[in-house]
Amino acid sequence: MTEREKITIRTLFNKASKNEPITWLTCYDYPTAYLQEEAGIDMILVGDSLGMTMLGYDGTLPVTMEDMIRHTQAVRRGAPQVFLVGDMPYMSYQVSNEDAVRNAGRFMAEADCDAIKLEGGIAMAPRIKAITDAGIPALGHLGLTPQSVAALGGFRVQGRGAQQAKQIMDDAKALEEAGASLILLEMVPDRVTKMITEAADDCLIMSLGSGPDAHGQLLIYHDMFGLYPKFKPRMAKVYGNAGEVILEGLKGYVKEVGSKEFPQPENWFTIKDDEFEDFKKLLD
Ligand code: KIV
Repeated sequence: MTEREKITIRTLFNKASKNEPITWLTCYDYPTAYLQEEAGIDMILVGDSLGMTMLGYDGTLPVTMEDMIRHTQAVRRGAPQVFLVGDMPYMSYQVSNEDAVRNAGRFMAEADCDAIKLEGGIAMAPRIKAITDAGIPALGHLGLTPQSVAALGGFRVQGRGAQQAKQIMDDAKALEEAGASLILLEMVPDRVTKMITEAADDCLIMSLGSGPDAHGQLLIYHDMFGLYPKFKPRMAKVYGNAGEVILEGLKGYVKEVGSKEFPQPENWFTIKDDEFEDFKKLLD
């Protein structure tokens, strides 16, 4: 594994101050984390999207803290130097500051995270404050927030209307004032993102489908490589179709086992003749 320096919140702010975009991807497992570390990704989000990409649910709501901790631990083992963000699952923080701090603390203590992320604007500012007051870096998530998809009326762009754009701007300010060190904007129009980024004083703004004028970009790993069979969001860029490659390989295996082309001698192990003769005698 390539050795690189640990990415800290300071590293991220330094990059932003030099106008170098920050790279961020989702990841949920050890081998993928290993590859992302090798590729030099700055940040990994173990998103509760794992409910869909890894566990096969239709949405993120059934995901538990236990699911999140288990996957985040695996990712940390694969990517020791990355800036690792644990995503607070549904109802792990909405009800009270106490829940929020306790569950954020679990991410830090049990999964060795560098920060946690939670969804929501002004209403969630007290949670961000409570978590950061406890000494835990907290990141916000505005725009399309999948845990509230029912209230938002589906997976759709947020902030296309002037009022809604102003609300997202106000939410971002409230989260920054509460102590958020980074805010993810998901599916927010590009010019709104640019204004929020320019208005951020002590907070990094990241874009997922929200245009180029943020401090960095996030993509969902499974969308990048054709690994999620149910849909591909329009904003995702496909960098390679690993899903197709894997499917071809699986079909090849089924065919070759059927036709007895697999296995070949290099795929099995042998026993020496004298040992085999002795073995047969032992059976007599
Ligand atoms: O769970 C997740 O992967 C997320 C992204 C959609 C930003 O929160």
